[in-house]
Parts: sequence; structure tokens; C-alpha cells
Amino acid sequence: MSRPDPADERLAGLRQRLQGLAYGGDYNPEQWPAATWREDVRLMREAGVNLVTVGVWSWGLLEPRPGVFEFGWLDEVMGLLGEAGVGVDLATPNAAPPSWLAHEHPETLPVDGEGRRIAFGSRVHYCQSSPVYRHYAARIAERLAERYADHPALAMWHIGNEYGGFGCHCPASLAHFRRWLADRYGTVDALNDAWGTAFWGQHYESFEHVGTPAARSRLFSGPNPGQLLDFARFSDAAALECYTAERDIVRRYSPDVAVTTNFMGSYKNLDYWRWAAEEDVVSLDMYAGPRDPDGPALAAYNFDLMRSLRGGRPWLLLESATGRNLTDGRNYARPAGQLQSRSLQAVARGADSVMFFQWRASRAGAERYHSAMVPHGGTATRTWREVTSLGRDMARLADLSGGVCDRAEVAVVWDWESWWALESPDHPSNDLCFPDRLLDHYRPLWEANVAIDFVRPDGDLSAYRLVVVPNLYLVDDTGAGNITAYVRGGGHLVMSYFSGIVDEYDRVQPGGHPGPFRDLLGIDIDEFAPLEPGETCGMQHAGHAGTATEWQDVIDLAGAETIAAYADGEFKGRPAATRHHFGTGTATYLGTSPDRETLRRLLLDCVTGAGVTPVLDTPAGVEAVRRRAADGTEHLFVLNHTSDEVTVGLGSGSTVDLLADGAPAPVGGRLRLPPFGAAVLRDAP
Ligand code: GLA
Repeated sequence: MSRPDPADERLAGLRQRLQGLAYGGDYNPEQWPAATWREDVRLMREAGVNLVTVGVWSWGLLEPRPGVFEFGWLDEVMGLLGEAGVGVDLATPNAAPPSWLAHEHPETLPVDGEGRRIAFGSRVHYCQSSPVYRHYAARIAERLAERYADHPALAMWHIGNEYGGFGCHCPASLAHFRRWLADRYGTVDALNDAWGTAFWGQHYESFEHVGTPAARSRLFSGPNPGQLLDFARFSDAAALECYTAERDIVRRYSPDVAVTTNFMGSYKNLDYWRWAAEEDVVSLDMYAGPRDPDGPALAAYNFDLMRSLRGGRPWLLLESATGRNLTDGRNYARPAGQLQSRSLQAVARGADSVMFFQWRASRAGAERYHSAMVPHGGTATRTWREVTSLGRDMARLADLSGGVCDRAEVAVVWDWESWWALESPDHPSNDLCFPDRLLDHYRPLWEANVAIDFVRPDGDLSAYRLVVVPNLYLVDDTGAGNITAYVRGGGHLVMSYFSGIVDEYDRVQPGGHPGPFRDLLGIDIDEFAPLEPGETCGMQHAGHAGTATEWQDVIDLAGAETIAAYADGEFKGRPAATRHHFGTGTATYLGTSPDRETLRRLLLDCVTGAGVTPVLDTPAGVEAVRRRAADGTEHLFVLNHTSDEVTVGLGSGSTVDLLADGAPAPVGGRLRLPPFGAAVLRDAP
């Protein structure tokens, strides 16, 4: 019998303690007098809060002078929370080093690509390669671990906050980059080969001559793409070293307590596939704008990505906004009722928590207008009423804790290295944006209630009916071989343009485009012909007149058939999309970005062709997702993201809505949902 994964055991410990889903938020008691802490704890109980993240920004108060520690206030807070039965997700405070560190060790401050040292006064002002920073960050982490490892309130460790993986150009980072390159390549000749330094005479004789790709190098011409890609890899790796160092410290003191760090979803700098493998549980901060028409689709794809990072295990939503969210650039209020549907969307897609930034709205500081669970107006507010109501919903869904979503029938390939390389400069078009292209492909599937997992290019594809590969510019032999084998073995694939173009060093694949996918797709690409921003070209697909944007591949058929063709312009009559039967599978290729409706038709054709079954047919703006409870019982979440009342046909069968007030209420074949309303349906017993 295989041994249980220790991460799963730690998580089971957390579940045991929470007795249900986690509900709460970031709690920053240091911003308030002690009298407020007592009120906070009372209100937390009123709202059904059972987990709070504490200490994220506390380093300067926990260690006000070097080596002088003041834990008294945190002892009191931990005590109050523990007595009230509220678990603490205790943070190591490395994301905001104290002012004394910046003052005494200015070499810990990061240096940007222009050579400017970043000043103290905001947050995340540290160089992730600095041995001095790492020393002090490890010391405060160890002091916290020593002191609180056995504290009854400790529920989970939260290492740092939203690691950024920002490339730094200071001397310590430069030395670290050179060591990292020497480890990666072994010899400088191997680096010369990988980076293609014969071009522009960039040959290196020693790792000591290699620099970081600072902005200066773009003064006259572009930087070396291999150097840029490796600097992205290095910056990610340096951040991960900071995380694992502190994770290992807290684990020494509390080996049974789960450890996480909060991710930012589709965040470019960090390869979360690698990070997730170092965590007990994946956690996410999600701030989809209340007014963004793509908000629910954006959130859905981030949630699916988080669930996929650890193979479908439950994950935690650690931060979201009860209302206003500063990242919009404008402080939009959340419409009444939207808090419920947007929050439960995370649970539907596998989260075992709904948490917010932050518990109590700050009076001062840059985020004083960010929403909170307890707004400036206190409990006599709509936000508070909705927060307490959501707390009741979370309690009603307690059985879902630890339950999973079934594996989806559709997988979307996601690869951070390819993203880094795709958005590198000096391409046929520098307008390609991976998250935008990803959303283009995800949105129509999401609108049709098709369940989706994300996979790596070399991940196990065998169980999927359909695999979608948006713009996989960089792919290594393993990934290309894996995708090819999937189709050969009977899989259905959709791949879009500028895929399979370069190897893992950002060197163009030999023999023409699209490199390793030519046989699979049955095409040769003679030329890339990007369009101007805003320029379009007509295209025809199955009698539908659409438009092509962004890009045109000039495709020669080599076994594939045309399923959409350009209707005007220089390439009139030539293929815009193709289909090829390969092995026992089918590969569809999109050589352009079609308009939304055309892309929807193309993708849904593939969904039907692959025999994929959507969860439910719902009116526009209504999302349907299935998730199981821990005992395997299936639950259907129906979420109305519109400001209108809607009616959803459920078909036959007798279900109950777990969110109804009082006992779970029977639901007939037609479900009515108020604006932004939600229902969680389970078969009637
Ligand atoms: C991030 C941070 C929080 C807070 C929120 C809200 O998620 O982790 O500290 O700044 O954004 O903007």
C-alpha cells in the first residue's frame, strides 16, 4: 500500500480543526487598539469566521529594532482568537522588511533594470537574492515558529505574501544569476550554444562576464532572448528558494501543520506548477472586478487553474474583496447580492474556503478605501449583512470540505515558460498577450458550462476528450511528443497559432513552422502575417461570416483540410483554420484570432465532435458547476452572474437547495434565481 501524502495528512488536520469550509480574511490587529480586538473576535463569531490570516505585515512591530522582539501583542491576539475558536493562518512577515533593515542594510533593497535602487515606503522592497535579507527573514520566521508552533490557535502557516519573483539587478542578484547559470549549463560553451551568442558577437568566455538583462541593453537593439528567458526562470527560482527556506523552518517546529503561500492566479512571474509542488495546499488571492463583464470568466479560469495545480485537490481562496477593489483603478462598489455568487463560485470550482482582504477596513494607509468584512461604517452596513449571510451559506456547505470536482472532459494546456517566451520582444508581433488569448479560448467553453482542467504540456492527457492548446509558442521535445501521442491515440486537439515555434532555449525549431507539430497538424506555415492593431480580415466558417484579427498564418495544406478560409485580403481563399486526422485522433488548428462569435462556433464544434457533455444548459450569464462533497455526494452549483432574475431548467429528478433558509428546500424542474443569486443543489434524500 502506498504511503499517504504528508501534504494530504496536514490538510486533513486543518479540515478536522475547521469542521467545515474556512471563512474569514486577513486580520491586521496591529492597526487597532486592544479594545477593538475584543470586538473583532465577537463579530468574527457573529459572522461565522473560523480562520484568519495574521501577521502578514507585522515584521516592523514584531522586531522594532534588530534582534529586539516584541511578541506581547501577538500573544494576546493569538490567545483571544484561540479562545474564540478562530484558527490562525500565521504569516511569516517577509513581504515588508522593517525600516531599520533598509536603513542599516540598503543593499537589501532591490535595484530595477535602470539601475535605480527602490526606496523604503511601500512594501515588497527587498532583493530576493540578498543573503542579508534572507538571513533576517529567516530569523523572524524562526522566532515565530519557536513561539507559536504549539499554540492552540495555530491552524496553518502562510509564508510571506504574494511572492512577486521580481528580477533584481543589484550586485548580489548578478552574482546569484551567474551561479544559477553555471549550475544550469555546467560550461559556458553550453550557455553560448543555448543563447545563440554567435549572433551579434555575444560570445562569453566566462560566466563572470554574463550580466542581467538590464534595460540598458535595449538602448540600441533588442536583448538576447535566451538571456531574457533564463533571467525569468532565475527570478522565479530565487523567489522559490526564499519560500522553501522559510517553509522548512516552520516545518521543523510544526511538522503536522499545513504550509501555504498565497498565489495571484494567472500571474506571469512565477511558475506555479513548480511552486504548488512545494506547498501542502494551493491558495489564491482573486480580485475580479465587480463591474468587469469578464469578471466571472476570469475568476473561473483562475479557480480552475488553482484546482489543477495539485491535481484536482481542494485549494483555498485566501483573499478576495467584499466590495471595492483598488486594482480596478477606480473604486467600483459591488452590486447588492453579488458577493454571494462570486464567492460561492470559488467553492463550486474546488475551494475549501472563502476569505477576504481584509477583516476590518483600515483607517490609514494606501488601502484605506479597499473594502473589508467590517467596513468603515461597521455593522450597520449592507456589506456586513451580506458578510454574515455568506457566513451562514458557508456553514450550510460544510460537508463539501475536502470534496473534489470530478476530472473535467476538457483540458487547456498552460505553461509559464512558454508565456515568458511568447511575450518576449522582437517577435513578428509584439502584441501577443498570453492571458488574453487564454481567456479567448476559455470564455466560450465557460459560457457553455463545459468543465475544464488545466494541464502542463507534458501532463497526463489520456483521460481528456478534448485538449485545447492556446498559443504554445515554446515547447520542448517531451511536451511536443506528449501532445502528439495524445492525438495519435485518439484524442481531439485544438491548437492556435504561433505554437511549437521555439525550443526551451527560445531557438527557432528547425525545418519550418510549426516545428514539431507539422505532421500532427498536417500543415506547413509559409509565413507569419500579423495584422495591425484594429485591422481585421473577413473569414468564412461553415457558412458563417466572421473576422480574423491580430495574426494570419499563411498555411500550406500538407494533409489537413480547410475548415475556415479568409474571405478577403491578400490571403483570400487560403486556410484560416484547418483539421487533420492523425493516428486515430483529430487536430484542429486556428491560424488567426477569430472574432468572439466565430471562435465560439469553432470551439463548440470541437466540443461536440469530441463528445464532451456540458454540465447544464443555462441562460446567458448563469454558470453551472458540479462539485462533490467529501462523502462523494454530487452537488450542482447554479450561479446567476446577471443583475436580472433568471429561470433555469433543471430537468427531472428531485433536488434540494442547501442555501435555502431553514431546512434544505425542495426544488422542482425549474429553478428561479434572483439577481446575482445562487443555489447549491443536491439530490433529495
Ligand atoms: C493583495 C495583498 C493584500 C492586499 C490586497 C488588496 O492580495 O496580498 O495585502 O493588498 O492585494 O489589494
